[in-house]
Amino acid sequence: MELKPKILAGNWKMNTDLQEGMKLASTIDKWVNGCTADPHVRIILAVPFTHLAEITGLMDYRRVSVAAQNCAAFEKGAYTGEVSAAMIKSVGAHYCIIGHSERRHVFNEKNEALKAKVDLCLKHAVRPIFCCGETLDERKAGKQNEVIREQLETSFLHIAPEDLKRSIIAYEPVWAIGTGETASPEQAQQMHAFIRKLVAEKYENLNAQEIPILYGGSMKPDNAEDLLKQPDINGGLVGGASLKVESFIDILKAF
Ligand code: 13P
Repeated sequence: MELKPKILAGNWKMNTDLQEGMKLASTIDKWVNGCTADPHVRIILAVPFTHLAEITGLMDYRRVSVAAQNCAAFEKGAYTGEVSAAMIKSVGAHYCIIGHSERRHVFNEKNEALKAKVDLCLKHAVRPIFCCGETLDERKAGKQNEVIREQLETSFLHIAPEDLKRSIIAYEPVWAIGTGETASPEQAQQMHAFIRKLVAEKYENLNAQEIPILYGGSMKPDNAEDLLKQPDINGGLVGGASLKVESFIDILKAF
């Protein structure tokens, strides 16, 4: 049996109304369950909060899981407009994206709040998909490894080994998100290997090869194969190309 975990996750961001989302999710679900593409690839759809309950009800969990895109940094209470990890769990979602670069940069979320979110997800049995990534300026200054190390060490790599085994790390260079620009397979592989080394150093008794590390940032059918064949890339966290059944499925076929 193959050890390398494989995951294709779609992050719909703030796109689709409920009806469009249900149609997209059920078409993907039907296709995935009937297809001959690699059966070891787990599919995750990160959908808007408003869609979570309906879409979790539609999915066949053998292959397709549902994720939230964010959660509150608080357990419960007077936080108007927020959605808690417990609420996400209560509608049947299995995963939650934490620390997406749009949360960090548009909504100014800091490492400390992200740590609280990770802990709340784990407390409520929601698996974190923890995102990290450097900006273009940070890369130009040669600081990418330092930035990624800090993001992971301050918010994520404090969790217990058994929790880490249930979690996912996503490397999403900010300069490649929604820009059409992709990290080259070599750049992505280098960073994934660095992240895996960090994991191996922190968790001596755990096989770091078991931890899925996904690449995100303009992954598309025409670049997916070269990225996915890198030894430390376990899959993709796909934005724009996850909104069309054809391009999402074409990426799945590239595994
Ligand atoms: P794009 O694939 O649209 O660049 O988005 C990547 C992303 O942010 C996934 O979380």
